[in-house]
Amino acid sequence: MNLISIADLSIADIMDILEKAENMKEKRKQGKTVDLLRNKSLAMLFEKPSTRTRVSFEVAMSDLGGHALCMNWQDMQLGRGESIEDTARVLSGYVNGIMMRAEHSNLLKMAKSASLPVINGLTELEHPCQSLADLLTIREYKGKFSGLKFGWIGDGNNVCNSSILACALTGMNIIVACPKGYEPDTKILKQSKDLGGNTKITYDPQEAAKNADVLYTDVWVSMSDETQKKRRMRDFKGFQINADVIKMAKNDVIVMHCLPAHRGEEIDPEIIDDPHSVIFEQAGNRLHAQKALLVKLLG
Ligand code: CP
Ligand code: NVA
Repeated sequence: MNLISIADLSIADIMDILEKAENMKEKRKQGKTVDLLRNKSLAMLFEKPSTRTRVSFEVAMSDLGGHALCMNWQDMQLGRGESIEDTARVLSGYVNGIMMRAEHSNLLKMAKSASLPVINGLTELEHPCQSLADLLTIREYKGKFSGLKFGWIGDGNNVCNSSILACALTGMNIIVACPKGYEPDTKILKQSKDLGGNTKITYDPQEAAKNADVLYTDVWVSMSDETQKKRRMRDFKGFQINADVIKMAKNDVIVMHCLPAHRGEEIDPEIIDDPHSVIFEQAGNRLHAQKALLVKLLG
């Protein structure tokens, strides 16, 4: 089984992963080890930079008694033109799983040619591992998903796309506030509808914030969008999570951000350390959610 999209998982799979993750988080707190992936190896391939994904996957494998190898695209023969298909076949003879952060089309090529589980560690279309940690965080703070209002303020990007599908799967109502021209992917919106999701798009951040249980934002300029920086900085003005936006939400709203943050752009710097913010707990949950995922796929 691969994890290319968060919607590759059923709601039963997600609940199973979250339960396992909570369990492993508790065990880690108690200093107990769970070596369910002893002698297993994970290859991690990066075509784009990473802090959280790289470190949390590497520590996850080590905590589980296994091993992770971190490789940059340019340092591999891939950087000199060896095909993804051949690389997939070779890696399939060495390791037990591949996690990859790359162009979406490259990830699909890898998944097609590898004979072992392939995990999406972020593409321009989706970031499913982030969504698993986000769901773990929301469940910890809210105790449920069904009926929650999830307000997204900012770019309709990869993290937004996976959040839309995650909300559809778990029964949260998501409303995305973005500037015109920065809406989420149309195929993802259709898929969310087919899954029974309740997704709304607005161009008014206040509408997304009103009575929200969860407020979420991400950078205005994602890793593949650097050439559009000037235009984006102008177009996204006003699409910021700040004290005024939080006042519109429920009193117990939680503020989330996948990180890295551009303080002063998509989020007011003071909000990151505000009592409503669960941002660093959310970042920590990448480790626990991915441990559960790895056990499910590689165990
Ligand atoms: N949130 C996230 O994926 O962070 P990194 O880019 O640091 O991996
Ligand atoms: N949307 C961001 C997320 C980084 C984790 C990007 O793709 O750069």
